Amino acid sequence: MQTSLQMFSAAQWSQLNALLGTLNVKQKLWLSGYLAGSSQDQTGSTTVTAESGQKVLIAYGTETNNCRQLATDLAERCASAGIPAEVADLAGLRLRRLGKLEHLVVITATHGDGDPPEPILPFYEAIMAEDAARLAGLKFAVLALGDSSYEHFCVTGIELDQRLEALGGERLVPRQDCDVDFARPAAEWMEQLLPALPRSEAVTAPAATVEIAADSSLYSKTNPLEAEVLANQNLSHASRQQPIHHLELALDADNFPVLPGDAVGILAENPPALVAMLLDATGLSGEQPVTLGQQALSLVEALRRHCDLCIPGKAFLELWAELTKDAALTGILNGDSKLLRQFLRQHQIRDLISQFPAHPDAQALVDVLRPLQPRLYDVANSLSELPDELHLTVKAYDYAFGNREEAGIASHYLLGLQPGDSVQLYPHRNARFRLPEQSGTPVILIGEGTGIAPYRAFWQELALSGQQTPCWLVFGEQSFEQDFLCQLDIQQAHAAGVLSHVDTLFHEQQPEATLATPLLVQGSRLLDWLARGAHLYLCGDKAELDACEAALEGYLDDQQGKGQWKQLAKDKRIHRNLY
Ligand SMILES: Cc1cc2nc3c(=O)[nH]c(=O)nc-3n(C[C@H](O)[C@H](O)[C@H](O)COP(=O)(O)OP(=O)(O)OC[C@H]3O[C@@H](n4cnc5c(N)ncnc54)[C@H](O)[C@@H]3O)c2cc1C
Ligand SMILES: Cc1cc2nc3c(=O)[nH]c(=O)nc-3n(C[C@H](O)[C@H](O)[C@H](O)COP(=O)(O)O)c2cc1C
Repeated sequence: MQTSLQMFSAAQWSQLNALLGTLNVKQKLWLSGYLAGSSQDQTGSTTVTAESGQKVLIAYGTETNNCRQLATDLAERCASAGIPAEVADLAGLRLRRLGKLEHLVVITATHGDGDPPEPILPFYEAIMAEDAARLAGLKFAVLALGDSSYEHFCVTGIELDQRLEALGGERLVPRQDCDVDFARPAAEWMEQLLPALPRSEAVTAPAATVEIAADSSLYSKTNPLEAEVLANQNLSHASRQQPIHHLELALDADNFPVLPGDAVGILAENPPALVAMLLDATGLSGEQPVTLGQQALSLVEALRRHCDLCIPGKAFLELWAELTKDAALTGILNGDSKLLRQFLRQHQIRDLISQFPAHPDAQALVDVLRPLQPRLYDVANSLSELPDELHLTVKAYDYAFGNREEAGIASHYLLGLQPGDSVQLYPHRNARFRLPEQSGTPVILIGEGTGIAPYRAFWQELALSGQQTPCWLVFGEQSFEQDFLCQLDIQQAHAAGVLSHVDTLFHEQQPEATLATPLLVQGSRLLDWLARGAHLYLCGDKAELDACEAALEGYLDDQQGKGQWKQLAKDKRIHRNLY
């Protein structure tokens, strides 16, 4: 306000405010881009126009759609500012095309354990290759999305940013790394970027070139479906430490598109005991009103449904250091950023509030808590068979934290649901984990634990289609007696001929064997199926399935020459769903 008043006369300031008050969001965006562009014209510095008539390419790398959404937002801002732009998925982008581009904006997430989003692997490998062509003349900018609770924060964005520069590209604006609360930093970065992008010569009307298809579902993270729990059964032995449950949910919605291979995003709730502990320790009343974005709600509801109560972010630590005036906390905040991240990873919110007692204001507290993230669970049934139910296979996730054992939030929330309870969810497309388009193409399904879930949907779909599709299931778990998940379903599908081959691997009975063992033991069948065009699927625990894939790659390259496995991946015949 101070700066604005110094810059404008009082009369100008009031006219400006009167005008701004009448504009909608789109008009404001257009105006900001227009002014940014025209002010540069007047200073004679960098009028950026699209001389070649080329569009700016906004390319996104995503698994859970945040980057896709941001790419669309940026394209809308470009359209409003008269900047011709086009949105593309990095998953389908050829490196050759970059060589012909003038302006590229990359918006990418990091997934796995510091890996690129799985769909963009071919692009990532191509650009990282030693012989990648130089990109002199390319102007670029990178927006990186990540989660600071992961060790390799935003590394894919960081790597692509560095690589584009190393290949001769010129950076338009510095990279922005965003944490899970990315909306504001991403919007600010876009505002910084817009003036550096070329406007078309004739900026008389917004260049509306947003070509991205809107998601056909009404349901999303911000508008979830409320589904009733019909059943929640333990599939594994009662004594198992991390039980696996089968959940059946009522799907009373017309427009909830999920195909076999898709997942749902679950909006879980924090355990009431954790919320109570936080209220107790801070001396706050759950009844106090707070706001989150535009929403007014009680503190207890915000803590239960919207805030992450486990992982502290930097903003939380800043508030705690300010409230406690603790020199150690202040020192960590002002010190090395790597040590700060390490400290945050080694402490949960419960640790900080007990070690450094403080009494925050309710609103100040929710303002610094990270948003509770949805978790994905694969849909375990085909909606062609049961259109009004969704089945999930959920394993209790426990992890060691310091010298104690912690329970995962969403998995334990799901396991604790009773028939009649409701749960909020939205569809999550996984277009790269689909049955082959060509009917009759053989499929090899390799799964560990809950990795069986999407395969159950696959074989239900295959059974209904009546196609003769050779289908080989390889399933691994801990113990035959306790963990043969979906045993009856598997046996029935096998007896009906839908599953042509079933191999199981139980680690307690065969401690030396790995998931790859049954396939390698039957190497000639594997080679025969691959020669017949089989697609291969890997689903479940990332470490186990990465090891399985490495063993299969070694075998195939050994038998048929180096590069054979990579070729299968290039031909889109390897499908991964790892977590
Ligand atoms: C595409 C996809 C499909 C999936 N399908 C299934 C499925 O069908 N069935 C299934 O059971 N699961 C599935 N999952 C896994 C599922 O989404 C969840 O990740 C899993 O259930 C664990 O979630 P949780 O909320 O229980 O645990 P969380 O509460 O998310 O676990 C806590 C995690 O946070 C970390 N953490 C805690 N404190 C800190 C801190 N201070 N700093 C940093 N890190 C911290 C822990 O190390 C731990 O990794 C899938 C995942 C993906 C991506
Ligand atoms: C399974 C999984 C693994 C992740 N691994 C990382 C990681 O290693 N580093 C990181 O910075 N962020 C990681 N993230 C956070 C994502 O980058 C972040 O949620 C991002 O907003 C996702 O963008 P997208 O929806 O476009 O895929 C991970 C998220 C998930 C779901």
